[in-house]
Parts: sequence; C-alpha cells; structure tokens
Amino acid sequence: MPIPFVEPFRIKVVEPIKQTTRAERQRFLAEAHNNLFGVAAEDVFIDFLTDSGTNAMSDRQWSAMMVGDESYAGARSFAHFEKAVQEVLGFPFVLPTHQGRGAEGVLFKTLVSAGQCVPNNRHFDTTQANLMALGANPVDLAVAEAADPIRDLPFKGNMDLEKLEQFIVETGADNIPIGMLTITNNSAAGQPVSLANIKATAEIYHRHGIPFFIDACRFAENAWFIKNREPGYADRSVAEIVLETFSYADGCTMSAKKDAIVNIGGFIACRDENLKLKLSERLIIQEGFITYGGLAGRDLEAVAVGLREGISEDYLDYRERHTRYLGEVLQSAGLSVYQPTGGHAVYVDAAQTLPHIPPAQFPGVALANMLYIEGGVRTVEIGSLMFSHPDPLTGEVIPAPNELVRFAIPRRVYTRSHLDYVGEVARIVANSADQIKGLQVTWAPELLRHFIARLAWL
Ligand code: F0G
Repeated sequence: MPIPFVEPFRIKVVEPIKQTTRAERQRFLAEAHNNLFGVAAEDVFIDFLTDSGTNAMSDRQWSAMMVGDESYAGARSFAHFEKAVQEVLGFPFVLPTHQGRGAEGVLFKTLVSAGQCVPNNRHFDTTQANLMALGANPVDLAVAEAADPIRDLPFKGNMDLEKLEQFIVETGADNIPIGMLTITNNSAAGQPVSLANIKATAEIYHRHGIPFFIDACRFAENAWFIKNREPGYADRSVAEIVLETFSYADGCTMSAKKDAIVNIGGFIACRDENLKLKLSERLIIQEGFITYGGLAGRDLEAVAVGLREGISEDYLDYRERHTRYLGEVLQSAGLSVYQPTGGHAVYVDAAQTLPHIPPAQFPGVALANMLYIEGGVRTVEIGSLMFSHPDPLTGEVIPAPNELVRFAIPRRVYTRSHLDYVGEVARIVANSADQIKGLQVTWAPELLRHFIARLAWL
C-alpha cells in the first residue's frame, strides 16, 4: 500500500488527551447550550475547531523564545521579527499586532469610514465584523465555483474579476478606501487563489487608485498550491512564489497563528512609510508600542522562526497530503466532502450530508454537534449560523452561500491514527444521518453570533 504521507518531524513533547463517554459528552454539550465553542477543551478528544494558534511549535521556536528581549521599545526580538517579515514577504515596513483581528482593526479604523465598501474574494468572520462595527460594508466577490462543493478545480478561491470591475465602477472608487484578497480563501473551503488572479486583482484595484491589501493568514499553503497547480510555477521555489505574491500588494494583514506556526501573534506590513506612520498612531492606542504591538518579545522570536519554517517545502508537502488524507477518510466514511480539499482544513457539505435539514435549522451545527457526541471530535460550522444575515432592504434572512462543517487541522499536532479515528466517528454519524435533527437559536448577540449563541435541538 502506498504511504499517504510521512511527518517530516519527530515528537519530543506530548500532551495527554482523554476520552469521555457518550453520556458525558451529551451533558457537556447541553451545558454549553449546544454550542461547541462553549465546551471545555479538556472534554474534547480531537480538536478540529481551528488551525489558528493551535500549532505545535518546533524546538527551534521554543529555544528562540528563551532569548526573547522584553524591552518596551526597540527590542532585539522586534529586529529579528522585522527582518523575517522583510525577507519572507518582501514588505519594508511591519507593525506587530496581538493577532490577525488586531491588524484588521488598526488598518480599517485608520483607512475606512462608515458607509464605505471593502471588496474581498470572501471576508472571514472577524474581517467582516471589524468592518461592520465601523458601519462599513464588506462585499464578497469570489468566483461562482467557490460555492460549488463538487467540481474539482484548482483555484476555487479566486476573485471574480468581472464582478470586481463592475462593482468598483458602480460603487465609485471614492467609496472604496481599500481592496482586499484573502489567501487561501478560508470562508470558501480554504481554496487557493492563483497568482494570475492575484496579479489581475491588483491591476484592477490599482487602475482605480485603490490600495490593495492581502489577508495573508495562509500565504504559505496558497503558494504551495500555486507551485503544484498553476502552469509555469512547478520549478519555482515556494519562497520565490511568496515574494511574487506580495510584490503585487501594497500591504497585508496577517494572523501569525496560522502559517507562521505560532500560538499567538499577527502583523500589518506595507510599502508606504507614511501609511506606516498613520497606522502607528492607532496601533499604540489599541495594541501597544510599535516594536511589540501587544506581544511579548518571546512571541516575536517565535514568529520570526515560524515564518521561515512555514515555507519549508517538505513541511508543506506533508501538510497538503495530511489534509487530503483526512478528506479521503471522511468521504469514504459517507460524508460529502467539498472538492478539492483545502490547505488547512477539510470542509464537509452539511447541506448534502443532511438534506432533510433546511439552512434556517443549521445543518452544519447539527452535524458538528453529532460528531462531538459520537466521538468527542470538535469541528466548526461555517454556514448560516456564522454567515446568514437579514437583507438590508427586505429584512428577509439570506442564508450563507454554503452549509459547511470545517475540520481545521492544527499544524504538526495530529498523527495519521488520529485522522483514522475521526473517520470512524464520521462513519457512525453518517450511518444515522437521517435521524439527525436541526436546531434553533434561543439567544444570540448581533455581531459574530456563532461564538456565543445559545441553541436548542428541534
Ligand atoms: N483572516 C482570516 C482569513 C482568518 O481565517 C482569520 C482567523 C483572521 C483573519 C483573524 O485572525 O484569529 O488571529 O484574529 N481565523 C481563525 C479560524 C480564527 O478559525 O479560521 P485572528
């Protein structure tokens, strides 16, 4: 039998995890108001809630942390961090932030006013909410294929270039202070964006005088897909592809908790020193001084090492195969897996798996909750609990484009037998799929409701 993947590391530190009984899990979930965000991590056996900040750091990252410089201003650790961002991404100016949404908050509060629009292929939840909290309009313009869970195409995360052009002409560039592109496209099943699309998106924004920022969380996985799927890039190194990617942008926001393989951290990077100075003002109010931005010196050291480890091709090859293997395991267990599998996660189409549950009864939440009850596997719904919203004109609720359940894989954490275990749990759930009921919301806040909403089984 061919070996699906081999981990390019060995394990030096372990963290015990414990199994619970089905009855215990039913109780834990009920106590959490049927919202998996409310379940204690100790009561989860395999945690695929997110790949964000859940990574295993390397021995080199841990040793770099021991020499962190905790000075308030001008720390040596900031210099290491700045140099790594400059070398890997190619931007001259960098401001650390406590995580990705800190970077978004500082950038948007500096550049975006109420009533303005910000296009993206698809905004992730925090990006969307950061804009909505300012009274601005996040606009999603991904290609139509992004919402098609079946067709196996190489770059389903792309921006729809025609729609983008038309949107800018109709809205007026004056009402668009900044244009974004998210790589990989997390809200569209972690699908990559091609370099041709990145370049063309940049060309459209720039022709209309709009600054172009990349939401860069998973830039390394995106570059790996470009190397393997985009004609002309097979012989280019990931490091070169990353530099080309960012060469078209004026800046980026980054959650280092993803492809920089750390547990906390983020940054804004840009080319324009005047913009950096403007952002610095807000950064100091909100995050911290410009050489630490809400992070400890040791965190900056871990990011500096992790950014370089994150673009290692041995690691990225394993990462893609590992994720694809989970997709195969879940598909053969009887779940409908979004095709092709993304970089950081496998997305299951809950609408296809549970066709008897309508979007308004949250099929994704129902499926995720059953995976927890049957085997202690925690996933997250990326569907109508997260993204449905009332139409501003009619008030009618518009469902999310897809009802997905995301199995996000922490980097360097789970082995193949963990993935096989998840497959067995999925099989139990799939075998009684027609018995699963939907849910209703009993309480929820207005913004980012999925995190703390309370639900009840119907
Ligand atoms: N942009 C994207 C595309 C993201 O996926 C995330 C976080 C952020 C921005 C915000 O970064 O968490 O460091 O503040 N996504 C995590 C997830 C939470 O589970 O996908 P953050």
